[in-house]
Amino acid sequence: MMKEATQQWLASDWAHSWHPFTDQARWEGQVCPVIVRGEGVYLIDSEDRKYFDGNSSIWTNIHGHSHPHLVKALQEQAATLCHSSYLGLANAKASELASRLCRVAGLDRCFFSDNGSTAVEAALRMELQWRHQSGEPNRRGFIAFENAYHGDTLGAASLGGVGRFFESISGMGPEVKWARGMEDLAEIDPEAIAAVVIEPLIQGVNEMTPWPPGMLQELRSWCDRNGVHLILDEVMTGFGRTGTLFACQREAVCPDYLCLAKGMTGGYLPLAATLTTGEIYEAFKGVGNTFYYGHSYTGNPLACAVALANLELCVADDFLTEVNEKGQLMGQLLELLSAQPGVKNFRRCGMISGLELDSSRSASEVCMKLRELGMLTRPILNTVVWMPPLASSQPELEAMAYCLKQALD
Ligand SMILES: Cc1ncc(COP(=O)(O)O)c(C=O)c1O
Repeated sequence: MMKEATQQWLASDWAHSWHPFTDQARWEGQVCPVIVRGEGVYLIDSEDRKYFDGNSSIWTNIHGHSHPHLVKALQEQAATLCHSSYLGLANAKASELASRLCRVAGLDRCFFSDNGSTAVEAALRMELQWRHQSGEPNRRGFIAFENAYHGDTLGAASLGGVGRFFESISGMGPEVKWARGMEDLAEIDPEAIAAVVIEPLIQGVNEMTPWPPGMLQELRSWCDRNGVHLILDEVMTGFGRTGTLFACQREAVCPDYLCLAKGMTGGYLPLAATLTTGEIYEAFKGVGNTFYYGHSYTGNPLACAVALANLELCVADDFLTEVNEKGQLMGQLLELLSAQPGVKNFRRCGMISGLELDSSRSASEVCMKLRELGMLTRPILNTVVWMPPLASSQPELEAMAYCLKQALD
């Protein structure tokens, strides 16, 4: 028998909430867990059921839920200053975070916003204004890759190549040339292009599909040869996910813009950053060159405090070594899982993975079964995403793989 509180929360949700990416007709009346607590790699619902957070709360969680170091940073900041405007004022935590992010990314300037979409949107707007102010107003186009996903604001969505999400706004945003990979760039006139946008190493929403090794370096060289800027969307891959702090560091590539969000606060608060070079930044100085873009919560001190605490843990001695080891273990476990009937193949990059099923199986049904077995994740088309918090221990990863095996059985 469901608790009264759970019944009330669900009833209010069905009556008044509108969920993202959700067919509300099917949603209303469908019982789902009401999450009330998080502990390490677990989420706990209002019925006291405990689940593995198998997709890191939509790819955000890094060090586990309720981590004492992150909670302390938040509590201390909450008792000091929750928010003050970043317009005409600075704040201690945002200053510190901007300089630390620039240092670890090898870039010069950090522009804050609130989520992955706005991190990308800010990069697009900066780039268009930069071209305008640098005497190249004709370079207004962007190159994006098929099946890419960069968020839902109009600009970011226009660079999204997942047809089913973006059909309704087709043609309304910036000019976009589509490429499937490096081979298509030769067909594009670079003189009309401002920047290329890519999810480095692996496309997330495209069912976790890695790019060929070396592709990012090749793309960087192509951009340099053609006077085109490189925008890296590390909203999913940032903060250790792929085994290096940023995915681009795997191929020793430095972008002109680096877009960060999701894991930036360890998955605790919405915060994003668009990092760029001193050269780009300099063109925005002087009367008439201001970057007219920003949000009320830009540089929010609570989010910046928790992001600083998150970064401290990410650059700690063994953190990335352990992520690489755990990624290897996930690879071995996925190898075993791929022998299950109905599994077509798997893809993995660091601690990002997807298990693609063949047409005899339904990934959404497998995810519902996983929920019954105590693990939460979501499918993308017919791929089951397995992207646990980077803090997951080896036994926890093995236990999650066992849930996957049982769900497939
Ligand atoms: C690569 C990438 N870019 C941008 C976004 C958009 O981020 P947000 O949902 O925080 O706006 C996402 C979200 O999944 C993403 O995976």
